[in-house]
Amino acid sequence: MGRLILKGVSRKFNGFLAVSDVNLEIADGEFVCLLGPSGCGKTTILRLAAGLDAPTEGELFLDSKKIEGVNDECGFVFQEYVLFPWRTVKGNIEFGPEMKGIRKEEREQIALHYIDLVGLKGFENHYPHELSGGMKQRVGIARAYANSPKLLLMDEPFGALDAQTRNLMQGELLRIWQEEHISALFVTHSVDEAVYLADRVMVMSARPGMVKDIFEIDIPRPRVRTSPEANELRDAILKSLGTEIKRAASLK
Ligand SMILES: Nc1ncnc2c1ncn2[C@@H]1O[C@H](COP(=O)(O)OP(=O)(O)OP(=O)(O)O)[C@@H](O)[C@H]1O
Ligand SMILES: [Mg+2]
Repeated sequence: MGRLILKGVSRKFNGFLAVSDVNLEIADGEFVCLLGPSGCGKTTILRLAAGLDAPTEGELFLDSKKIEGVNDECGFVFQEYVLFPWRTVKGNIEFGPEMKGIRKEEREQIALHYIDLVGLKGFENHYPHELSGGMKQRVGIARAYANSPKLLLMDEPFGALDAQTRNLMQGELLRIWQEEHISALFVTHSVDEAVYLADRVMVMSARPGMVKDIFEIDIPRPRVRTSPEANELRDAILKSLGTEIKRAASLK
C-alpha cells in the first residue's frame, strides 16, 4: 500500500505563503507528475510528503497514518545530490536496507542489483567525488529504489542526465514502479516526461502554489511518445503551464 493524501496543505515561510491549500490524493500504485513554474512549491510539497518539513496548515497521510517526522516508508531523490561522501557507491545504496537491519550479504545483493540497473557496474567501490553529476544522480536513484519504498518521491531526478540516458531511466522507472507496485509523486519541468510517465499530471499555479489543473493520461503503456493522443495532451498541458509561467514572471 502507498496511498498519499494531502488535505488542505499550506506552507508559509516567514509569513510568505509558498503553498496554498493543496488537496491531492495519490491512489495506491498511482503515478502522479507535478508540473509548475519555478518557485511554485513543488519541492516544498515533496519535502512535506517525505516528512522533512511540516505544513503550516493541513495534514498529510500515508495509508491513513499521519506523516509526522521523517517518513521512512518513502524513497526520495532530490534535485541536489545528497550522497554520503564517505561511503562508496555500494555503501550509499546499501544505506536504506542497512537501516532496516537487513543482513550484509542480502543488502549487498540488493545494492548490486540496482547498481546494475542504473548502469553503474564497475563503479561499486568509487566514492561520490569520483563520479560525474549524472552518475551521482543515478546513485541517488538506486538508493531510493533499494529502500523498497511504498512511495517514491522524485524531484527532477533525470534533469541532469543526457537525453538518451534519460529515456532509458524513464523506462526502468516505469518497470520498477509496475513490478514493485509503488506509488510515485514525480516533479519534472518536462511536459514530455510527464506525459510519458504519469497516470495523472497536476499543474500548479504560480506562487502561492495551488492545484491549477489535473490531466488524466489515459494512454496504455508502453506509450509511444509521438502518438496523436500524447501530442494532444502535451498541447493542453503546455497551454496550462505556459499561462502560469508567464504569471510567475510577472510576479517577480
Ligand atoms: N526553507 C525555506 N525557507 C524560506 N523559503 C523557502 C524555503 N523553502 C522554499 N522556500 C520558498 O518557497 C517557494 C517554493 O520553493 P520550492 O523550492 O518548493 O519551489 P519549486 O517549485 O520546487 O521550484 P523549482 O522548480 O525552481 O525547483 C520559493 O519562493 C522558495 O523561495
Ligand atoms: Mg524544486
